[in-house]
Amino acid sequence: MNMNIIDENFPRNYQKIKTQNSVLGINGSPRKNGNSETILKQITSGISQSDCETNRVNLREYQFSSCIGCERCRKDKICTGVKDAMSHLYPVIMRSRGLVLVSPAHNYNVTAMMKSFIDRLYCFYDFENTRPRAWSSRLADQGRKAMIITICEQQDKEEMGFTTEAMEMPLKALGYDIVKTIPIFGIFDAGGVKNNAGILQMLHQYGEDFGKPCVEN
Ligand SMILES: Cc1cc2nc3c(=O)[nH]c(=O)nc-3n(C[C@H](O)[C@H](O)[C@H](O)COP(=O)(O)O)c2cc1C
Repeated sequence: MNMNIIDENFPRNYQKIKTQNSVLGINGSPRKNGNSETILKQITSGISQSDCETNRVNLREYQFSSCIGCERCRKDKICTGVKDAMSHLYPVIMRSRGLVLVSPAHNYNVTAMMKSFIDRLYCFYDFENTRPRAWSSRLADQGRKAMIITICEQQDKEEMGFTTEAMEMPLKALGYDIVKTIPIFGIFDAGGVKNNAGILQMLHQYGEDFGKPCVEN
C-alpha cells in the first residue's frame, strides 16, 4: 500500500477524515503467499468491480506492537502511546467505509498479529467515568461495513474455535455492520486455496457483493 496517503498533520487533523468509497483488507496470517493472502486478493479483485478503491495490508509486513494499555487515547482520541506502523494505518481505517479481516485459525483463535491489530483499535472508543465505564465508538453510525473470513485446516466447526467471533464481536462493538462471515474449512497447505477454483470463484463473487454497500448512494 502506498504510504504517501498519510496526512502529514496526523493526528492533529484526523478528526476531519470522512469515510470514502474505499475498502481496507487486512490479512492476519504470518505465512507469505499463504491462504489468507490469496483469499484477500480474490476478495479485493471482486470489490474492484464496484466504484470502491481497495487497499490490502499484510500485517506481517508491518512493525507494530500490541496495545500497552497506557490509556493516553482517552485524552488524545487516537493511539499516541505507541508510534509505529499503526499510526500510518489509522487514517486509512478511518476513511475506508469497508473493512475486510482475514485470519487463519491459530490455536482456535485469530493469529497474534490480528489480535494485536484489533486491540489497537481500542483508541476509537470513548468512555464515561462511571464504573463499569459506559462506552461508545467514534467509528459508529457512519455506515461502515465489514466482512470476516476465516480459514483452518480441520473440517469440524469446533476446530476453528473462536476465530470468527474474535473478529466479529470487536468489529460490531466498534460500529461495523457485519455484512458477511465466510468460514473456510479443510485447507492446510499454503497453496490449498489457489487450487480450489470453486472457492476462488465464490470469494470473487462475495467481493463483488461487498463492494456495492461500501459505495455511498
Ligand atoms: C500456529 C498454528 C496454529 C494452528 N491452529 C489451528 C487450529 O486451531 N485449528 C485448525 O483447524 N487449524 C489450525 N492451524 C492450521 C491453519 O489454520 C491452516 O494451515 C491455514 O490454512 C493457514 O492459513 P494461512 O496460509 O493463511 O496462514 C494452525 C496453524 C498454525 C501454524
